[in-house]
Amino acid sequence: GQTSFLVFSASLRTDSLNTRLAKLAALVIEKNGGKVDLAHMEEFDCPTFNQDLEVNDFHPKGAEEFRRRILANDAFIISSPEYNGSMPGFLKNMIDWVSRFRPQPFHQHHALLMSASPSMAGGNRGLWSLRVPLEHLGTRVYPDMFSLASAHQAFDEQGNLKDATLAKRFEDNLVAFMDQVEASKHYPCMKKA
Ligand code: FNR
Repeated sequence: GQTSFLVFSASLRTDSLNTRLAKLAALVIEKNGGKVDLAHMEEFDCPTFNQDLEVNDFHPKGAEEFRRRILANDAFIISSPEYNGSMPGFLKNMIDWVSRFRPQPFHQHHALLMSASPSMAGGNRGLWSLRVPLEHLGTRVYPDMFSLASAHQAFDEQGNLKDATLAKRFEDNLVAFMDQVEASKHYPCMKKA
């Protein structure tokens, strides 16, 4: 059937630039024939991780919801802010909680990482730190990552990227990822667990 993508912004902020980029990614995916499950980081809210809480197989509701959503889709796409050259603490916290399920939900799932920042580097360093736990958990993190620099000036009124060259690069990046996820559905060795 149709290839489906869980798309979410890892920012809780109302006017988040990453949420704008996630919404644009959703539109581009749908335009190219993919199915989108757009989520909000609030749905995956988890208490601060503490192993003492892990009694009687306890998992927070937010972690259960994230597991349900990654298993329900063929791939996931995160647009994450960069905080101090790294990922936001609440995102790492959620990943740590989700990593405690067995079977471990990240294993063999495809992911595409993107970021938006008012800075010139577009939050790209944060994505390199986000790759570390995801790859540790066996996620197939797509090699190309999209980082939107000067993101506070990058969008037009309709939420599209003003710069046509950049808009094409964004679409090409997404379509290449979509093709890989689609192709993997036909190879038994690449099938998700
Ligand atoms: C930031 N910001 C930031 N930006 C960046 O490019 N590199 C960085 O290291 C940081 N560090 C940082 C730390 C903290 C604690 C905050 C709150 C912010 C700025 C950040 O990119 C900016 O606030 C974005 O607008 C956040 O993304 P959203 O919420 O707009 O999606």
